[in-house]
Amino acid sequence: MKKMSVVAIGLALLMSVTSFGQLPDKMQWFRDAKLGIFIHWGIYAVNGVSESWSFHNRQISYTDYMAQLKGFTASSYKPEAWVELIKASGAGYAVLTTKHHDGVALYPTRWNDLNVVKATPAKRDLVAPFYKALRSAGLKVGAYYSLLDWSHPDYTGFLKDSSRYKREDDPARFGRFLQFCHGQITELMDVYKPDLIWFDGDWEHPGTSWDAPQIRKIILDRHPGAIINSRLGEYGDYATPEQNMPITQPDRKEWELCMTPNYNWGYRPSDSAYKTPYELITIFADVVGRGGNLLFNIGPKPDGTLPAEQMAQLQALARWNKKNGEAIFSTVAGLPEGHFYGPTTLSKDSTTLYLFLPSQAGGSAMIKGLKNAIKSIEVVGNGQKLGHKVVGKISWSEVPGLVYINALPQSSLDKEMTVLKLTLDGPVKLYRGKGGFH
Ligand code: GLC
Repeated sequence: MKKMSVVAIGLALLMSVTSFGQLPDKMQWFRDAKLGIFIHWGIYAVNGVSESWSFHNRQISYTDYMAQLKGFTASSYKPEAWVELIKASGAGYAVLTTKHHDGVALYPTRWNDLNVVKATPAKRDLVAPFYKALRSAGLKVGAYYSLLDWSHPDYTGFLKDSSRYKREDDPARFGRFLQFCHGQITELMDVYKPDLIWFDGDWEHPGTSWDAPQIRKIILDRHPGAIINSRLGEYGDYATPEQNMPITQPDRKEWELCMTPNYNWGYRPSDSAYKTPYELITIFADVVGRGGNLLFNIGPKPDGTLPAEQMAQLQALARWNKKNGEAIFSTVAGLPEGHFYGPTTLSKDSTTLYLFLPSQAGGSAMIKGLKNAIKSIEVVGNGQKLGHKVVGKISWSEVPGLVYINALPQSSLDKEMTVLKLTLDGPVKLYRGKGGFH
Protein backbone atom coordinates (compact mmCIF):
# COMPACT_ATOMS: atom_id res chain seq x y z
CA MET A 1 0.00 0.00 0.00
CA LYS A 2 2.78 2.34 1.08
CA LYS A 3 4.80 1.33 -1.94
CA MET A 4 1.85 2.02 -4.23
CA SER A 5 1.37 5.54 -2.95
CA VAL A 6 5.08 6.31 -3.38
CA VAL A 7 4.81 5.11 -6.97
CA ALA A 8 1.66 7.18 -7.47
CA ILE A 9 3.33 10.32 -6.11
CA GLY A 10 6.35 9.68 -8.32
CA LEU A 11 4.11 9.31 -11.36
CA ALA A 12 2.17 12.46 -10.54
CA LEU A 13 5.44 14.35 -10.21
CA LEU A 14 6.68 12.98 -13.51
CA MET A 15 3.45 14.00 -15.22
CA SER A 16 3.74 17.54 -13.91
CA VAL A 17 7.13 17.81 -15.62
CA THR A 18 6.99 19.00 -19.22
CA SER A 19 8.31 16.94 -22.11
CA PHE A 20 11.53 18.94 -21.95
CA GLY A 21 12.16 17.59 -18.48
CA GLN A 22 11.50 20.95 -16.83
CA LEU A 23 9.16 21.78 -14.02
CA PRO A 24 5.99 23.60 -15.09
CA ASP A 25 6.68 27.29 -15.54
CA LYS A 26 5.41 29.17 -12.51
CA MET A 27 5.42 32.46 -14.45
CA GLN A 28 2.93 31.32 -17.09
CA TRP A 29 -0.26 32.58 -15.44
CA PHE A 30 1.45 35.91 -14.78
CA ARG A 31 2.61 36.22 -18.39
CA ASP A 32 -0.92 35.51 -19.62
CA ALA A 33 -2.69 37.78 -17.13
CA LYS A 34 -1.62 41.11 -18.76
CA LEU A 35 -3.65 43.16 -16.29
CA GLY A 36 -3.49 43.22 -12.51
CA ILE A 37 -5.18 45.60 -10.09
CA PHE A 38 -3.08 47.15 -7.34
CA ILE A 39 -4.91 48.34 -4.23
CA HIS A 40 -3.42 50.86 -1.85
CA TRP A 41 -5.76 50.89 1.12
CA GLY A 42 -4.69 52.30 4.42
CA ILE A 43 -5.24 54.91 7.12
CA TYR A 44 -3.79 57.61 4.82
CA ALA A 45 -7.17 57.61 3.06
CA VAL A 46 -8.82 59.12 6.16
CA ASN A 47 -7.30 62.58 5.69
CA GLY A 48 -6.45 61.97 2.05
CA VAL A 49 -2.72 62.43 2.59
CA SER A 50 0.02 60.60 0.73
CA GLU A 51 0.58 57.03 1.87
CA SER A 52 3.24 56.88 4.58
CA TRP A 53 5.39 59.48 2.80
CA SER A 54 3.35 62.36 4.23
CA PHE A 55 4.79 61.90 7.73
CA HIS A 56 8.18 60.64 6.52
CA ASN A 57 8.58 63.82 4.48
CA ARG A 58 7.20 65.93 7.35
CA GLN A 59 4.11 67.20 5.53
CA ILE A 60 2.15 66.07 8.58
CA SER A 61 3.38 65.07 12.05
CA TYR A 62 3.67 61.41 12.93
CA THR A 63 1.08 61.94 15.69
CA ASP A 64 -1.42 63.50 13.30
CA TYR A 65 -0.75 60.78 10.74
CA MET A 66 -1.39 58.03 13.28
CA ALA A 67 -4.55 59.80 14.51
CA GLN A 68 -6.06 58.63 11.23
CA LEU A 69 -6.25 55.15 12.78
CA LYS A 70 -9.38 56.35 14.57
CA GLY A 71 -11.14 57.19 11.31
CA PHE A 72 -10.41 53.98 9.44
CA THR A 73 -13.79 52.27 9.65
CA ALA A 74 -14.09 49.96 6.64
CA SER A 75 -17.79 50.31 7.43
CA SER A 76 -18.99 49.81 3.85
CA TYR A 77 -16.29 47.40 2.76
CA LYS A 78 -17.69 44.87 0.32
CA PRO A 79 -14.81 42.81 -1.01
CA GLU A 80 -17.13 40.92 -3.39
CA ALA A 81 -18.08 44.22 -5.03
CA TRP A 82 -14.40 45.09 -5.53
CA VAL A 83 -13.78 41.68 -7.03
CA GLU A 84 -16.73 41.97 -9.36
CA LEU A 85 -15.29 45.17 -10.83
CA ILE A 86 -11.76 43.79 -10.89
CA LYS A 87 -12.79 40.62 -12.66
CA ALA A 88 -14.92 42.53 -15.17
CA SER A 89 -11.97 44.82 -15.95
CA GLY A 90 -10.19 41.78 -17.38
CA ALA A 91 -7.56 41.59 -14.64
CA GLY A 92 -6.18 38.18 -13.73
CA TYR A 93 -4.84 39.13 -10.32
CA ALA A 94 -4.95 41.78 -7.63
CA VAL A 95 -2.29 42.96 -5.20
CA LEU A 96 -3.42 44.45 -1.87
CA THR A 97 -1.22 46.47 0.49
CA THR A 98 -1.09 44.15 3.50
CA LYS A 99 1.31 46.59 5.16
CA HIS A 100 2.71 49.85 3.81
CA HIS A 101 5.79 51.79 4.99
CA ASP A 102 3.73 53.21 7.91
CA GLY A 103 3.67 49.73 9.45
CA VAL A 104 -0.12 49.47 9.73
CA ALA A 105 -1.12 45.91 8.84
CA LEU A 106 -4.52 45.32 7.24
CA TYR A 107 -4.66 41.94 8.99
CA PRO A 108 -4.34 40.74 12.59
CA THR A 109 -0.59 40.23 12.70
CA ARG A 110 0.58 38.47 15.84
CA TRP A 111 3.80 40.47 15.79
CA ASN A 112 2.46 43.78 17.10
CA ASP A 113 -0.69 45.77 17.77
CA LEU A 114 -0.29 48.13 14.84
CA ASN A 115 -2.98 46.53 12.74
CA VAL A 116 -6.52 47.41 11.72
CA VAL A 117 -8.04 44.81 14.01
CA LYS A 118 -6.48 46.14 17.20
CA ALA A 119 -5.95 49.80 16.36
CA THR A 120 -8.88 50.94 14.20
CA PRO A 121 -12.69 50.90 14.34
CA ALA A 122 -12.59 48.49 11.39
CA LYS A 123 -11.78 45.85 14.03
CA ARG A 124 -11.47 42.97 11.57
CA ASP A 125 -9.20 41.25 9.12
CA LEU A 126 -9.56 43.08 5.81
CA VAL A 127 -7.24 40.84 3.82
CA ALA A 128 -8.89 37.45 4.30
CA PRO A 129 -12.34 38.27 2.85
CA PHE A 130 -10.82 39.98 -0.17
CA TYR A 131 -8.57 37.02 -0.93
CA LYS A 132 -11.50 34.67 -0.47
CA ALA A 133 -13.58 36.65 -2.97
CA LEU A 134 -10.69 36.78 -5.45
CA ARG A 135 -10.13 33.06 -5.22
CA SER A 136 -13.76 32.22 -5.72
CA ALA A 137 -13.75 34.41 -8.83
CA GLY A 138 -10.75 32.44 -10.14
CA LEU A 139 -8.30 35.32 -9.76
CA LYS A 140 -4.76 35.13 -8.39
CA VAL A 141 -3.99 36.72 -5.05
CA GLY A 142 -1.13 39.15 -4.45
CA ALA A 143 0.25 40.63 -1.22
CA TYR A 144 2.10 43.94 -1.23
CA TYR A 145 4.42 44.04 1.77
CA SER A 146 6.78 46.88 2.72
CA LEU A 147 10.05 45.49 4.05
CA LEU A 148 10.88 48.79 5.69
CA ASP A 149 8.66 49.84 8.57
CA TRP A 150 9.00 53.44 9.69
CA SER A 151 6.87 52.78 12.78
CA HIS A 152 8.81 49.87 14.21
CA PRO A 153 10.99 50.84 17.19
CA ASP A 154 13.81 48.56 15.98
CA TYR A 155 13.76 49.78 12.40
CA THR A 156 16.54 52.17 11.34
CA GLY A 157 14.60 54.78 9.35
CA PHE A 158 11.83 57.10 10.54
CA LEU A 159 11.62 60.63 9.13
CA LYS A 160 13.52 61.81 6.08
CA ASP A 161 16.03 63.72 8.20
CA SER A 162 15.91 61.71 11.40
CA SER A 163 16.77 58.04 11.64
CA ARG A 164 16.69 55.91 14.78
CA TYR A 165 20.16 54.46 14.35
CA LYS A 166 22.58 53.09 11.76
CA ARG A 167 22.43 49.38 11.01
CA GLU A 168 26.21 49.01 11.22
CA ASP A 169 26.22 50.57 14.70
CA ASP A 170 23.72 48.14 16.18
CA PRO A 171 23.42 44.90 14.19
CA ALA A 172 21.65 43.19 17.10
CA ARG A 173 18.86 45.76 17.00
CA PHE A 174 18.51 45.37 13.25
CA GLY A 175 18.49 41.60 13.83
CA ARG A 176 15.48 42.06 16.10
CA PHE A 177 13.75 44.01 13.35
CA LEU A 178 14.55 41.29 10.82
CA GLN A 179 13.03 38.71 13.11
CA PHE A 180 9.83 40.77 13.08
CA CYS A 181 9.94 41.35 9.32
CA HIS A 182 10.66 37.70 8.47
CA GLY A 183 8.04 36.73 11.05
CA GLN A 184 5.37 38.79 9.31
CA ILE A 185 6.30 37.37 5.92
CA THR A 186 6.11 33.83 7.34
CA GLU A 187 2.74 34.66 8.84
CA LEU A 188 1.43 36.07 5.55
CA MET A 189 2.51 32.91 3.78
CA ASP A 190 1.11 30.56 6.43
CA VAL A 191 -2.22 32.31 6.83
CA TYR A 192 -2.98 33.77 3.38
CA LYS A 193 -0.77 31.78 0.96
CA PRO A 194 -0.60 34.53 -1.67
CA ASP A 195 0.34 33.54 -5.23
CA LEU A 196 2.41 36.68 -5.62
CA ILE A 197 4.40 38.71 -3.09
CA TRP A 198 4.99 42.31 -4.05
CA PHE A 199 7.81 43.67 -1.92
CA ASP A 200 8.54 47.35 -1.60
CA GLY A 201 10.92 49.54 0.37
CA ASP A 202 14.01 47.39 -0.08
CA TRP A 203 15.99 50.44 -1.16
CA GLU A 204 16.94 51.47 2.38
CA HIS A 205 19.23 48.44 2.81
CA PRO A 206 21.06 46.04 0.48
CA GLY A 207 19.58 42.60 -0.23
CA THR A 208 22.12 40.93 2.06
CA SER A 209 20.97 43.04 5.02
CA TRP A 210 17.36 42.01 4.50
CA ASP A 211 18.67 38.45 4.20
CA ALA A 212 16.79 38.25 0.94
CA PRO A 213 17.74 34.61 0.19
CA GLN A 214 16.15 33.62 3.50
CA ILE A 215 12.99 35.61 2.66
CA ARG A 216 12.80 33.86 -0.68
CA LYS A 217 13.20 30.54 1.09
CA ILE A 218 10.44 31.33 3.61
CA ILE A 219 8.10 32.03 0.69
CA LEU A 220 9.02 29.17 -1.59
CA ASP A 221 9.11 26.58 1.21
CA ARG A 222 5.48 27.42 1.83
CA HIS A 223 4.33 28.02 -1.73
CA PRO A 224 6.81 26.74 -4.33
CA GLY A 225 4.84 28.34 -7.15
CA ALA A 226 4.71 31.80 -5.58
CA ILE A 227 6.00 34.69 -7.69
CA ILE A 228 8.14 37.42 -6.12
CA ASN A 229 8.57 40.89 -7.61
CA SER A 230 11.98 42.44 -8.11
CA ARG A 231 12.08 44.63 -5.01
CA LEU A 232 13.92 42.07 -2.94
CA GLY A 233 17.51 42.86 -3.76
CA GLU A 234 18.45 40.57 -6.63
CA TYR A 235 16.10 37.83 -5.53
CA GLY A 236 12.86 38.57 -7.34
CA ASP A 237 11.29 36.97 -10.39
CA TYR A 238 10.19 39.94 -12.50
CA ALA A 239 10.92 43.63 -13.01
CA THR A 240 8.66 46.39 -11.69
CA PRO A 241 9.13 49.72 -13.44
CA GLU A 242 6.98 52.29 -11.64
CA GLN A 243 4.85 54.99 -13.27
CA ASN A 244 7.37 55.53 -16.08
CA MET A 245 6.69 53.84 -19.38
CA PRO A 246 9.71 51.88 -20.61
CA ILE A 247 10.73 52.96 -24.10
CA THR A 248 12.98 49.99 -24.71
CA GLN A 249 12.35 46.47 -23.48
CA PRO A 250 13.21 46.03 -19.77
CA ASP A 251 16.12 43.60 -19.26
CA ARG A 252 14.06 40.95 -17.60
CA LYS A 253 11.71 38.94 -19.77
CA GLU A 254 8.80 39.32 -17.37
CA TRP A 255 7.89 42.81 -16.26
CA GLU A 256 5.00 44.76 -14.88
CA LEU A 257 4.43 48.50 -15.00
CA CYS A 258 2.62 49.74 -11.92
CA MET A 259 0.68 52.94 -12.36
CA THR A 260 -1.55 55.25 -10.34
CA PRO A 261 -5.08 56.20 -11.47
CA ASN A 262 -4.24 59.90 -11.02
CA TYR A 263 -0.97 60.98 -9.39
CA ASN A 264 -1.43 59.08 -6.14
CA TRP A 265 -1.50 55.52 -4.87
CA GLY A 266 -3.86 56.10 -1.97
CA TYR A 267 -7.25 57.89 -1.95
CA ARG A 268 -6.66 61.63 -2.22
CA PRO A 269 -9.75 63.67 -3.08
CA SER A 270 -7.48 66.68 -3.74
CA ASP A 271 -6.03 64.93 -6.79
CA SER A 272 -8.49 65.00 -9.67
CA ALA A 273 -5.96 64.40 -12.43
CA TYR A 274 -7.38 61.02 -13.36
CA LYS A 275 -6.08 59.27 -16.43
CA THR A 276 -8.76 59.22 -19.11
CA PRO A 277 -9.99 55.92 -20.56
CA TYR A 278 -8.12 56.75 -23.76
CA GLU A 279 -4.87 57.31 -21.88
CA LEU A 280 -5.35 54.20 -19.80
CA ILE A 281 -6.05 51.95 -22.76
CA THR A 282 -3.27 53.30 -24.97
CA ILE A 283 -0.87 52.75 -22.05
CA PHE A 284 -2.22 49.26 -21.49
CA ALA A 285 -1.90 48.28 -25.16
CA ASP A 286 1.63 49.66 -25.28
CA VAL A 287 2.69 47.65 -22.23
CA VAL A 288 1.14 44.42 -23.47
CA GLY A 289 2.61 44.95 -26.94
CA ARG A 290 6.05 44.90 -25.35
CA GLY A 291 5.35 41.74 -23.40
CA GLY A 292 4.61 43.36 -20.03
CA ASN A 293 1.72 43.52 -17.59
CA LEU A 294 -0.04 46.64 -16.34
CA LEU A 295 -0.64 46.73 -12.60
CA PHE A 296 -3.22 49.48 -12.44
CA ASN A 297 -3.81 50.95 -9.01
CA ILE A 298 -6.95 51.97 -7.16
CA GLY A 299 -7.14 53.65 -3.76
CA PRO A 300 -10.32 52.91 -1.78
CA LYS A 301 -11.84 55.33 0.72
CA PRO A 302 -11.51 54.68 4.47
CA ASP A 303 -15.01 53.17 4.55
CA GLY A 304 -14.01 50.67 1.87
CA THR A 305 -15.97 52.15 -1.03
CA LEU A 306 -14.24 52.99 -4.27
CA PRO A 307 -14.08 56.54 -5.65
CA ALA A 308 -16.48 56.95 -8.59
CA GLU A 309 -13.65 58.04 -10.92
CA GLN A 310 -11.72 54.85 -10.24
CA MET A 311 -14.78 52.70 -10.75
CA ALA A 312 -15.26 54.45 -14.08
CA GLN A 313 -11.67 53.65 -15.02
CA LEU A 314 -12.16 49.97 -14.24
CA GLN A 315 -15.40 50.02 -16.22
CA ALA A 316 -13.64 51.59 -19.19
CA LEU A 317 -11.08 48.78 -19.11
CA ALA A 318 -13.94 46.29 -18.80
CA ARG A 319 -15.79 47.62 -21.84
CA TRP A 320 -12.71 47.71 -24.00
CA ASN A 321 -11.33 44.33 -22.90
CA LYS A 322 -14.67 42.65 -23.39
CA LYS A 323 -14.60 43.70 -27.00
CA ASN A 324 -10.87 43.48 -27.72
CA GLY A 325 -9.66 40.93 -25.19
CA GLU A 326 -8.70 38.36 -27.81
CA ALA A 327 -5.92 40.72 -28.90
CA ILE A 328 -4.61 41.00 -25.33
CA PHE A 329 -5.04 37.91 -23.19
CA SER A 330 -2.89 34.91 -23.99
CA THR A 331 -1.06 36.84 -26.69
CA VAL A 332 2.66 37.59 -26.65
CA ALA A 333 4.69 40.73 -27.38
CA GLY A 334 4.18 42.00 -30.90
CA LEU A 335 6.50 43.21 -33.66
CA PRO A 336 9.82 44.81 -32.75
CA GLU A 337 10.24 48.56 -33.28
CA GLY A 338 10.07 49.85 -36.80
CA HIS A 339 7.32 47.82 -38.45
CA PHE A 340 4.19 49.62 -37.30
CA TYR A 341 3.39 53.01 -35.78
CA GLY A 342 1.72 51.67 -32.68
CA PRO A 343 1.36 48.72 -30.37
CA THR A 344 0.99 45.20 -31.77
CA THR A 345 0.58 41.73 -30.26
CA LEU A 346 0.88 38.24 -31.71
CA SER A 347 -0.98 35.03 -31.01
CA LYS A 348 1.26 32.49 -29.30
CA ASP A 349 1.78 30.62 -32.58
CA SER A 350 2.47 34.02 -34.23
CA THR A 351 0.12 33.40 -37.14
CA THR A 352 -2.23 36.19 -36.04
CA LEU A 353 -1.06 39.74 -35.75
CA TYR A 354 -3.07 42.40 -33.91
CA LEU A 355 -2.62 46.10 -34.66
CA PHE A 356 -3.79 48.70 -32.15
CA LEU A 357 -4.98 51.99 -33.62
CA PRO A 358 -5.81 55.08 -31.58
CA SER A 359 -9.50 56.01 -31.53
CA GLN A 360 -9.63 58.57 -34.27
CA ALA A 361 -7.13 56.92 -36.61
CA GLY A 362 -9.52 56.83 -39.50
CA GLY A 363 -6.76 56.73 -42.11
CA SER A 364 -5.00 53.81 -43.69
CA ALA A 365 -2.76 51.84 -41.30
CA MET A 366 0.59 50.70 -42.69
CA ILE A 367 2.99 47.84 -41.88
CA LYS A 368 6.60 47.62 -43.02
CA GLY A 369 8.80 44.58 -43.50
CA LEU A 370 6.08 41.92 -43.26
CA LYS A 371 7.11 38.94 -45.40
CA ASN A 372 3.90 36.98 -44.91
CA ALA A 373 0.91 37.06 -47.17
CA ILE A 374 -2.18 38.28 -45.35
CA LYS A 375 -5.15 35.93 -45.54
CA SER A 376 -7.70 38.27 -43.99
CA ILE A 377 -8.10 41.45 -42.00
CA GLU A 378 -10.97 42.16 -39.69
CA VAL A 379 -11.88 44.60 -36.97
CA VAL A 380 -11.80 42.88 -33.59
CA GLY A 381 -15.13 42.98 -31.80
CA ASN A 382 -17.36 43.67 -34.81
CA GLY A 383 -16.16 41.39 -37.59
CA GLN A 384 -15.91 44.14 -40.24
CA LYS A 385 -13.58 42.89 -43.03
CA LEU A 386 -10.99 45.20 -44.53
CA GLY A 387 -9.00 44.99 -47.75
CA HIS A 388 -5.39 45.97 -48.21
CA LYS A 389 -2.82 46.62 -50.87
CA VAL A 390 0.89 46.04 -51.05
CA VAL A 391 2.79 49.10 -52.19
CA GLY A 392 6.29 49.27 -53.62
CA LYS A 393 7.10 45.58 -53.86
CA ILE A 394 9.97 45.14 -56.31
CA SER A 395 9.76 41.73 -57.97
CA TRP A 396 13.52 41.04 -57.90
CA SER A 397 14.02 42.18 -54.29
CA GLU A 398 13.67 40.17 -51.12
CA VAL A 399 12.42 43.29 -49.34
CA PRO A 400 8.67 43.09 -48.76
CA GLY A 401 6.44 45.92 -49.92
CA LEU A 402 4.48 48.16 -47.60
CA VAL A 403 1.07 46.90 -46.53
CA TYR A 404 -1.58 49.62 -46.61
CA ILE A 405 -4.81 48.56 -44.96
CA ASN A 406 -7.98 50.15 -46.25
CA ALA A 407 -9.26 52.98 -44.08
CA LEU A 408 -11.73 52.02 -41.40
CA PRO A 409 -15.32 53.12 -41.76
CA GLN A 410 -16.28 55.60 -39.00
CA SER A 411 -18.79 53.10 -37.67
CA SER A 412 -16.02 50.61 -36.91
CA LEU A 413 -13.91 52.95 -34.79
CA ASP A 414 -13.68 52.17 -31.09
CA LYS A 415 -13.96 55.08 -28.65
CA GLU A 416 -10.45 54.39 -27.32
CA MET A 417 -8.48 52.01 -29.53
CA THR A 418 -9.60 49.97 -32.50
CA VAL A 419 -7.88 46.63 -33.01
CA LEU A 420 -7.29 44.97 -36.37
CA LYS A 421 -6.76 41.24 -36.62
CA LEU A 422 -4.52 40.06 -39.44
CA THR A 423 -4.55 36.36 -40.20
CA LEU A 424 -1.22 35.48 -41.78
CA ASP A 425 -0.31 32.58 -44.04
CA GLY A 426 1.92 31.11 -41.32
CA PRO A 427 4.10 32.16 -38.39
CA VAL A 428 5.17 35.78 -38.74
CA LYS A 429 8.29 36.43 -40.85
CA LEU A 430 9.90 39.85 -40.84
CA TYR A 431 12.39 41.66 -42.95
CA ARG A 432 14.69 43.63 -40.64
CA GLY A 433 17.31 44.84 -43.13
CA LYS A 434 18.41 48.24 -44.32
CA GLY A 435 16.39 48.18 -47.51
CA GLY A 436 18.92 48.10 -50.31
CA PHE A 437 21.96 46.62 -51.94
CA HIS A 438 24.13 49.74 -52.15
C1 GLC B 1 6.83 53.44 -4.18
C2 GLC B 1 6.30 54.16 -2.97
C3 GLC B 1 5.09 53.58 -2.40
C4 GLC B 1 4.16 52.88 -3.34
C5 GLC B 1 4.91 52.06 -4.35
C6 GLC B 1 4.05 51.40 -5.38
O1 GLC B 1 7.78 52.50 -3.87
O2 GLC B 1 7.25 54.21 -1.94
O3 GLC B 1 4.44 54.51 -1.64
O4 GLC B 1 3.39 52.06 -2.58
O5 GLC B 1 5.84 52.84 -4.97
O6 GLC B 1 4.81 50.88 -6.40
